[in-house]
Amino acid sequence: MSQTTIESILQEKRLFSPPAEFSQQAYVRSVREYEQLYDKAKANPERFWAELAEQELDWFQKWDTVLDWQPPFAKWFVNGKINISFNCLDRHLTTWRKNKAALIWEGEPGDSRTLTYAQLHREVCQFANTMKQLGVQKGDRVGIYMPMIPEAAIAMLACARIGAPHSVVFGGFSAEALKDRLVDAQAKLVITADGGYRKDNIIPLKEQVDRALADNGVPSVQNVLVVQRTKQQIHMEPGRDHWWHDLQQGASADCPAEPMDSEDLLFILYTSGSTGTPKGVVHTTGGYNLYTHMTTKWLFDLKDTDVYWCTADVGWITGHSYIVYGPLSNGATSLMYEGVPRPSNPGCFWDVIEKYGVNIFYTAPTAIRTFIKMGEHLPKARDLSSLRLLGTVGEPINPEAWVWYHRIIGNERCPIVDTWWQTETGGHMIAPFPGAIPTKPGSATRPFPGIIADVVDLDGNPVSGEEGGYLVIKHPWPGMLRNVYGNPERYRSTYWEHIAPRDGQYFYFAGDGARKDEDGYFWVMGRVDDVISVSGHRLGTMEVESALVSHPSVAEAAVVGKPDEVMGESIFAFVTLEGNYSPSDTLIDELKKHVVKEIGAIARPGEIRFTDALPKTRSGKIMRRLLRNIAAGQEVAGDTSTLEDRSVLDKLRGGA
Ligand code: PRX
Repeated sequence: MSQTTIESILQEKRLFSPPAEFSQQAYVRSVREYEQLYDKAKANPERFWAELAEQELDWFQKWDTVLDWQPPFAKWFVNGKINISFNCLDRHLTTWRKNKAALIWEGEPGDSRTLTYAQLHREVCQFANTMKQLGVQKGDRVGIYMPMIPEAAIAMLACARIGAPHSVVFGGFSAEALKDRLVDAQAKLVITADGGYRKDNIIPLKEQVDRALADNGVPSVQNVLVVQRTKQQIHMEPGRDHWWHDLQQGASADCPAEPMDSEDLLFILYTSGSTGTPKGVVHTTGGYNLYTHMTTKWLFDLKDTDVYWCTADVGWITGHSYIVYGPLSNGATSLMYEGVPRPSNPGCFWDVIEKYGVNIFYTAPTAIRTFIKMGEHLPKARDLSSLRLLGTVGEPINPEAWVWYHRIIGNERCPIVDTWWQTETGGHMIAPFPGAIPTKPGSATRPFPGIIADVVDLDGNPVSGEEGGYLVIKHPWPGMLRNVYGNPERYRSTYWEHIAPRDGQYFYFAGDGARKDEDGYFWVMGRVDDVISVSGHRLGTMEVESALVSHPSVAEAAVVGKPDEVMGESIFAFVTLEGNYSPSDTLIDELKKHVVKEIGAIARPGEIRFTDALPKTRSGKIMRRLLRNIAAGQEVAGDTSTLEDRSVLDKLRGGA
């Protein structure tokens, strides 16, 4: 986060109380009610979660132990049998919701589709049978590489229905990145589309899949299912590739949901960390279902009459938890939009809100900052009066953007729910109950019941004061990740050993810095590791460095985040070249393209600077702190006495 954002957050003192008319009809209506819930959960978390699991979800068989905690490994609702696809679909069919809109979809070129719960159920069952016909069985992993079309949600729910864990890979990742993820998950089937619309272009999804699978690149993959979306010419590999519509047509709509063990793998989702290749975050069935269900219901104050819209892509955790599973488990109407604001259609989000009368809108600070730039005349020209709640996620929101969102989009009528959470946490962890908690711009406020959050030093001691410390969670929760796929050691060391356990107390290390104020509000300040957030997309600096170094011209690379007004951070790369290469603009372009090829367009460096050497300590560690200062055009701050060669710094600065 930039220094100015941190400063403006530190000075922020405004308090916004929930509007009285909102509180009156909310599930949780006052700070006192929130605290009662919170205290009840804290006193006996297992009883708290068990009561909710019984009230809110349908189980084929009840669990016999609520929590089995063998730190750092947790099992929730042990021996319970459940199916999240059943909870998202079947159970609504015996109620009036049968003909309620489950998914409303708006395509980028202006086409649209609505699926009722009955229709969605039918499609999911047919597709589940299609996968079975292709030999997919319970436990087989399925890769999903799709645009934002209803078939993406159908595919996820169909996987869950037959117990085949999905691994959704964001459509903006390159063939290389897709291949790595498919190999790690050993996917048996890949579901994709001929192409997808993105910012007035067509992204060639099937072509990327072909590249990923070329030369038997992913030996586990036996079949590829292709949705026809853009109708461009693509190659169909005989015997391997099949059209979705061909197989779907003849498939039976009778496919009872498989009773899954509560701890059976539901999905793997890859995310970046500070070291190594992306980690396959493992989420299981029962606890994740309950956690996403409860957070959606209470934090969005979701009612049966609401049209709810989350603007994320299903390729990220937000799309999993808050487009598909959380809302549908609650029987909500979830809107899915294929487009993103772009110069040719800057007002498209406001058009969608007006067209469908959206009541709950959930987006990211980077999007809000883009809207601010595009101008308030755009939202002001639309009727946004249907909105009653606004959410934000992905990175700390600067108070200016918060206040603009509140004033211009919410007309000062809608509570703002700033949700702090992560791929690993499965669902929201710290966020205001909209009818209860007064909000402060820039603060995600207070933890969800059952979440014991704290800010500590490296010894695990709570810290107070403005300098803050590390954000940790001190008790397991149902939505937590269970493992890193195939790598329990990495799970342990990444999340549970940064702060050493003591006296049986384990600390889940989130990787974020935070502080807690005198009212117990949390202020998340951003990552404390080598993870950067580019337009809310999480990237490891090491991944980008490895991509750069894989180019023959690059000897060494160091990547840091540079503060950016709209994107939050942009990628700034310092590169030293192999002896027989010399710096040029052409090479800069080539290196940028190379990173896009290796990872995807989201990782394209904003700037690349060539240098003879990188600033290192005497033990050879790159001093990123100094590079961050240089990238931001700031004075180099703090101690530089460990620097091996001071002249490196002077040269780098000279180029700034
Ligand atoms: O740094 C925090 C930031 O996003 C990280 C998690 O990224 P990812 O796993 O990709 O999930 C994003 C969607 C949940 C966190 O470690 N972050 C997310 N939400 C917030 C946030 N930082 C501050 N405030 C938030 N509301």
